[in-house]
Amino acid sequence: MYDLIILGGGPAGYNAAERAAHGGLKTLLIEGRALGGVCLNEGCVPTKTLLYSAKIFDYAKHSAEYGVKFENASIDHSAVIDRKGRVVKTLVGGIGASMKRAGVTVVNAYGTIMGKDASGFTVKAGDEEYKGAKLLICTGSTAAVPPIPGLREAVDSAFAMTNREILDMKNVPEKLVVIGGGVIGLEMASYFNSIGSKVTVIEMLDHIAGPTDSEISKILYKNYVKKGVTFLLGAKVTSVGKDCVNYELNGKEESAPADAVLVSIGRRAMTQGIGLENIGVLTERGAIVTNDKLETNVSGVWAAGDVNGKSMLAHTAYREGEVAVNNMLGKPDRMNYNSGPAVIYTNPEVASVGETTETVKAKGLDAKVESFTLKYSGRYIAENEGGDGIVKLIIDKEHRKVIGVHMIGNYASEIIYGAALMVDREMRVEQVQKIVFPHPTVGEVIREAMFMI
Ligand code: NAI
Repeated sequence: MYDLIILGGGPAGYNAAERAAHGGLKTLLIEGRALGGVCLNEGCVPTKTLLYSAKIFDYAKHSAEYGVKFENASIDHSAVIDRKGRVVKTLVGGIGASMKRAGVTVVNAYGTIMGKDASGFTVKAGDEEYKGAKLLICTGSTAAVPPIPGLREAVDSAFAMTNREILDMKNVPEKLVVIGGGVIGLEMASYFNSIGSKVTVIEMLDHIAGPTDSEISKILYKNYVKKGVTFLLGAKVTSVGKDCVNYELNGKEESAPADAVLVSIGRRAMTQGIGLENIGVLTERGAIVTNDKLETNVSGVWAAGDVNGKSMLAHTAYREGEVAVNNMLGKPDRMNYNSGPAVIYTNPEVASVGETTETVKAKGLDAKVESFTLKYSGRYIAENEGGDGIVKLIIDKEHRKVIGVHMIGNYASEIIYGAALMVDREMRVEQVQKIVFPHPTVGEVIREAMFMI
């Protein structure tokens, strides 16, 4: 009998398992594949490994602008993929070791919830049945493959790929067509563009990067176009052929030739086939319904990570798992979804937290919205020839609180947590002004901007 059974060993699950074990709960973690989930095995970490190689290659190509000469720089995609494998292996091994250290029992099999009785929940994994007083569901999500004619066949024949398969593709497609200009589409477009593919992104909206602040999204778009990526915005994919993707744009049927296709049009929560119906867990539009304590409608059952469909970001998943465990341990805790940062690891990087220009308008907030060039930073100018990065502040007018910060420009991914702290702690402009930022850094533009808004 366990105090807690966790279904799924991705960021939500493995982190929650460690926290629960440290909190004194006898914890069982059930995972059907490798520990680490999508993030570690076919998402965040492998893509960052690839993008780092692309960044080095980009720097080599542009090194002359910085007075450094490289003759014939080249990139070996196959070696990049091999390195990615080693990075993932190291980290997956690290999670296994952490579980052991924390005293978490790990079962490597797919689990199904069989039912509940007065003593708790029964979960079957492999041939064994396990009992747990509490249950935390962290089964994650899978790539959505919409019913576009020819797409299923294209996936089956490996002509079309999701984030999972493309990260193991060893050849470099001459022409890559990306369906969906969201986070995955843009990160992979960035990589393949850098290493020499001709990339076309087909996006049904009139802009890229989904809910990203529109000004930032436009700057990112300009940077991509300059690098040679083709965007077909407001385009509807009508079918996938054997060597092309067909789409409708401005009422005309067109075709984009392709050697490979990436489907990145969003993800679906993994709620099927895990036995939710056996204990009556409520789902809405395919995701488990949770409150800000991560409780489901069934007492003793929590759900954290992509499976609740709230944010689908690994760092939110970590925190959600912790919130769930804290509440199990009798330590009241709640999720604050407003102050979770988001990053797109393109080159240049995009990072944001809080309200955007669009949400301010939609919610009718009385806020001051202003952008500042990153060229206020000496370090930015030193390191970014021709850079057009900005930081955008969104400040509520009544109390002068920081309610949103958006950046495009490198190091944004590493700077944004400072801004998230400001939003989470509801800091006022005058409070940020009194903090000493290191100089010269790109991040100090945020402080400087606080004196100009
Ligand atoms: P997404 O939701 O970010 O973007 C999907 C895009 O596809 C949207 O712009 C949508 O308008 C477009 N779309 C949908 N159907 C379409 C169609 N039929 N034709 C053309 N365009 C279509 O989804 P994505 O990129 O697949 O990422 C999935 C999840 O993974 C996201 O929730 C994302 O937050 C997460 N993720 C986060 C990363 C990060 O934090 N850096 C990296 C990669 C993924």
